[in-house]
Amino acid sequence: MYPNMADSNRLPTEPYKGVRDFYPEDEAVQKYLFSTMRGVAERFGYVEYDASVLESAELYRAKGAENEEIANEQTYTFTDRGDREVTLRPEMTPTVARMVAAKRRELPFPLRWYSIPNVFRYERPQRGRLREHWQLNVDLFGSHSPAADAEVIMLAHALMREFGAQESDFQIRVSSRQFVQDIAKRHDLSPENHRAFRLLLDRHGKISKEEHEEELKKLGISPEEFAASNPPEDVAALLEPLRQANIGNVAFDPHIVRGFDYYTGMVFEVFDTHPENNRSLFGGGRYDNLLDMFGEHVPAVGFGMGDVTMRDFLAVREKLPTYASPVKVYLAVPSSALAPEAMKLAAELRRAGVNTAVDFGDKKLEDQIKAADKQRIPYLIVVGENELGSGEFKVRDLAAHSEKPMRRDDLSSFFLNL
Ligand code: HAM
Repeated sequence: MYPNMADSNRLPTEPYKGVRDFYPEDEAVQKYLFSTMRGVAERFGYVEYDASVLESAELYRAKGAENEEIANEQTYTFTDRGDREVTLRPEMTPTVARMVAAKRRELPFPLRWYSIPNVFRYERPQRGRLREHWQLNVDLFGSHSPAADAEVIMLAHALMREFGAQESDFQIRVSSRQFVQDIAKRHDLSPENHRAFRLLLDRHGKISKEEHEEELKKLGISPEEFAASNPPEDVAALLEPLRQANIGNVAFDPHIVRGFDYYTGMVFEVFDTHPENNRSLFGGGRYDNLLDMFGEHVPAVGFGMGDVTMRDFLAVREKLPTYASPVKVYLAVPSSALAPEAMKLAAELRRAGVNTAVDFGDKKLEDQIKAADKQRIPYLIVVGENELGSGEFKVRDLAAHSEKPMRRDDLSSFFLNL
């Protein structure tokens, strides 16, 4: 646009720090992730909802929703022109809680809802952590039953299987906030120490075993006794139906607590077992009191699965789908004078429902073919004088390097029946 602009004045082409551009091949992976998520959520009877990325900042500061790390350090918050404090949602749970509370009297419970929002967190970008990610949110409202806890875990398991994972590829680790509470009570922990205990558990895996044990001892908790704990009642009650559903990779793990303050019961986290990617993939839990901040009481349980961690999971196992262009056929022309004829043929094909792209003949035929191939368009037709005159075209299969002749009238049915 500015051919004489000095190098130093050029704008960088990189995206903003910690966010991604999705070139068509990346976008195709994204679409695959989302359609797999949608398919499984809907198979379990969940329906899709959505909301704006903009939320009032107070939603993340209210008692109950607060997560100090997220509200104070990790949100993108600004003041709008009307002096309102606005936050780009860092997660979907407060938003969905707000939506359910707003229509509590009209909505049919148990309510099964899912969404795939993009969410924003001001984090230090690193593997698996970015400043914008998409997150499948699956939530069930209106049931206290451990069967509801079991259902969301079954759904998480089914999702992993649908992505092509074997049970040995991941582990579902479950605990309960009840368990943390019981230990705190038994050891008579002060509110600060209770919180310190929770944060310590959350850091498990990020610090050494020795350091972890040392910190437990400081709180007066015996590491041996802690490690040998039995599952709390609510966890035991949900492990049974999961066993009956033949889910073999779920187990109680007393270290699972999760970061948010709003969880009240079962909490779980799904871990990748791959040696190069051994970390948490996603998680969730029960949050029975979150809607109380809107003056409504509705028990809830759900989870959030991020696209970044799922991509990594699939990439290390070479399970990402190979790219296929949505364009079926490319029409090339030996000279630009024939472009209008090619456009006419394209219109015929499109009317029949065939995705067709046309070249305008600005480049040599050979380069047009290269362009089609580079876009991984499977077929190409050269629209030349002879073909137009005879009404017979050669359909080239660009991957197989083969071609076959075809009458103009037969083209659309050929592409539609591929
Ligand atoms: P969360 O653990 O903060 O939970 O996020 C859920 C998942 O989103 C994570 O396990 C991870 O896959 C992904 N994720 C989180 N932060 C990032 C990031 N900075 N970059 C890439 N991926 C990320 C929640 O957000 C809860 N609201 C989930 C929930 C729904 N609980 C009940 N219902």
